[in-house]
Amino acid sequence: ALITLRQLLDHAAEHVYGVPAFNINNMEQGLAILNAAARCEAPVILQASRGARSYAGDIMLRHMIQALAEMHPGIPICMHQDHGNNEATCLSAIRHGFTSVMMDGSLREDMKTPADWDYNVAITERVARMAHWIGASVEGELGVLGSLETGEAGQEDGSGAEGRLSHDQLLTDPDEAAEFVRLTRVDALAIACGTSHGAYKFSSRPTGETLAINQIEKIHARIPNVHLVMHGSSSVPQYLQDMINEFGGEMPQTYGVPVEEIERGIKSGVRKVNIDTDSRMAITAQFRKVATSHKTEFDPRKFTIPAMQEMEKLCLDRFERFGTAGNA
Ligand code: G3H
Ligand code: 13P
Ligand code: NA
Ligand code: ZN
Repeated sequence: ALITLRQLLDHAAEHVYGVPAFNINNMEQGLAILNAAARCEAPVILQASRGARSYAGDIMLRHMIQALAEMHPGIPICMHQDHGNNEATCLSAIRHGFTSVMMDGSLREDMKTPADWDYNVAITERVARMAHWIGASVEGELGVLGSLETGEAGQEDGSGAEGRLSHDQLLTDPDEAAEFVRLTRVDALAIACGTSHGAYKFSSRPTGETLAINQIEKIHARIPNVHLVMHGSSSVPQYLQDMINEFGGEMPQTYGVPVEEIERGIKSGVRKVNIDTDSRMAITAQFRKVATSHKTEFDPRKFTIPAMQEMEKLCLDRFERFGTAGNA
């Protein structure tokens, strides 16, 4: 059954667990996530970016989610717009059956220019007011994702904030977070703590200096009843980097967010944990393996079946480690 983000995260808070929010672009990712969820009885958050919506099409996405819900009637599913850039994106998502939207007002509509406080409060409050009339949930974001090492948003495809970011922008302030939630009435708040999108988050294993889980603890102490969201939460596992590179890839060595740091965050109010890069790597690692080891193969299912299995294994691990398992 489809449920809202508010319903899901209220349950997660009451029972102190986190929910991975996996990005979805196609049927294979949907099947992998739901198969993992069914195996361990976990509720799920499926999220689609603007890019995913234009890749699959809103009608296809809507029916895919509906199909997944029908295939797994016992699994609560929240369908969420990832990084909505304006009111129109958020409202059209709701019109296409999404039960939750992120209004990311930390950046302007171009999703590159850091926004000021007044812009963020005003647009997020407007979206929250409209969404709540219809019964959908809203996630807002205060603070800009980016590296505390370099001050850069650091996404390989050039998306994310442009220019150098200050420490103030890269770490969400607890008092401002409290005021932001009071003014906007969001159901969940994404915070900045040193993570960034994509595979290249940290140039060495993160420390307390580069990944500020203690900032999450401070925010949680200030607003204990607010559901916190951690973006850029892929762990960029070494075994997937190794598999990709063993089979012809050339990914430079990189470090993501260690799962145990996310577990610490979950103890401090993190309820939604956004993961896209890890799924992409799981799929690509198996594509490369099949392409390199079976050079005569041309049936796409021979690629997608092991890719789905690799992604399912990753999803299952996160459901178990975040405490989501057993809560469906
Ligand atoms: O926030 C970024 C997500 O990983 C979605 O990425 O916009 O390439 O679909 P995308
Ligand atoms: P990753 O790039 O770390 O998977 O983060 C995804 C994300 O935050 C989507 O909103
Ligand atoms: Na989101
Ligand atoms: Zn994100």
